[in-house]
Amino acid sequence: MIIFEHFRCPLNRYTFYIKPVRQWVEDNCEGFVLNLFAGKTPLALNEVRNDLDPEMPADFHLDALSFLRSWEGKRFDTILLDPPYAYRKSMELYKGNICSPFRQMKDAIPTILKPGGIVITFGYHSVVMGKNRKFLPERIALFSHGGAIHDTIASVERFRPGKCADR
Ligand SMILES: C[S@@+](CC[C@H](N)C(=O)[O-])C[C@H]1O[C@@H](n2cnc3c(N)ncnc32)[C@H](O)[C@@H]1O
Repeated sequence: MIIFEHFRCPLNRYTFYIKPVRQWVEDNCEGFVLNLFAGKTPLALNEVRNDLDPEMPADFHLDALSFLRSWEGKRFDTILLDPPYAYRKSMELYKGNICSPFRQMKDAIPTILKPGGIVITFGYHSVVMGKNRKFLPERIALFSHGGAIHDTIASVERFRPGKCADR
């Protein structure tokens, strides 16, 4: 069963600046959290923060894929992905910082996530990690901003290496 939720709230380039979104994220993250595109809003979580922009409050300022490939600390319980949702947004809103190649990021994530851990993704898609990478969807939230503005989709997918059938 997938839990579905719907919220109405304003849109901000720094997604978690908006209180209902921040609250939803804080409620759904578990344990030790990697906030890979951390932006400017610290969360009330045990989080490691990474953002390519050196002006953002973060522990690391690496490209997201470089971070995933170089992390040698303990595995995370939650990996939070809130990248720029489109190339145009990178140019207009995030100083030209573009998201790392997404498929390569998705392949790297299971190497630093605990089995049983979760990936929470914000963007325009509800399935991100997918069954082929041994992830099962648990929760989908739609944040509706009204007017002509696209909704923001957030999904929670759990890493179940022992429970997903092989392709
Ligand atoms: C949609 S915003 C997320 C903001 C954050 N979740 C918040 O609520 O403040 C995207 C963020 O990704 C950062 N970013 C863009 N490209 C990146 C990359 N390749 N690696 C790491 N961070 C990147 C931007 O600087 C920006 O802060």
